[in-house]
Amino acid sequence: MSFDRSIKIAPSILAADFANFGAEIEAVESQGADWIHVDVMDGHFVPNISFGATTCKAIRPHIKTVMDVHLMIAPVDPYIEAFAEAGADFITAHVEAGPHIHRTLQAIRATGAKAGVALNPGTPAEAVAHLLDLVDLVCVMTVNPGFGGQKFIDMSAKITTLRNMIGDRPIHIEIDGGVDPTTAPIIAGAGANVLVAGSAVFRGGSVTDPTPYGENIKAIRAAIG
Ligand code: DX5
Ligand code: ZN
Repeated sequence: MSFDRSIKIAPSILAADFANFGAEIEAVESQGADWIHVDVMDGHFVPNISFGATTCKAIRPHIKTVMDVHLMIAPVDPYIEAFAEAGADFITAHVEAGPHIHRTLQAIRATGAKAGVALNPGTPAEAVAHLLDLVDLVCVMTVNPGFGGQKFIDMSAKITTLRNMIGDRPIHIEIDGGVDPTTAPIIAGAGANVLVAGSAVFRGGSVTDPTPYGENIKAIRAAIG
């Protein structure tokens, strides 16, 4: 079977109700989410703390699609096993998080999880040139990581470069930060296929009124065409 490069919308639960993750995940999946994006922040690699592997394990049974864990932590390696045991399908580490990203990606794959590598806006595409045989996903940050609801930084040229570097390899290009119906066409046009969106999906709805989640997801898809 050929690699599935169709567009996937991955709502980030960073924008969900933190007291209600299980129900929020079920609501957004019922409204058309393809993956669930889980943002782990340590207050060290990024200037904000979210939650860790224990929370990931607790929410796992509520995820029927794909659990996409984005680690904004340093160091990464001591915690890989815990996130794999929590049931992550994808574990993504930042290339900037330490001197041994190659070792980190090997360690992620050794757990059986799929491995992702993320690039901050200031990091060039070439930083992953020697990692392409070790990854299942490249995440291009279109904000400086740490917070939801920030302004989109256009990384189209980087996405296009990565798309060409990846060629036929079975690697997803994921975009994270500031994705909404205005920015999504730019991103998809440049060659990305996984669109993380937090505030643009969760705005206007709730677990008791999840219809806006579906409308927001549809609006992003419709904008891509
Ligand atoms: C940023 C996180 C993102 C964030 C996206 O550090 O990695 O996943 O939640 O949020 P929005 O879509 O609101 O920019
Ligand atoms: Zn993220």
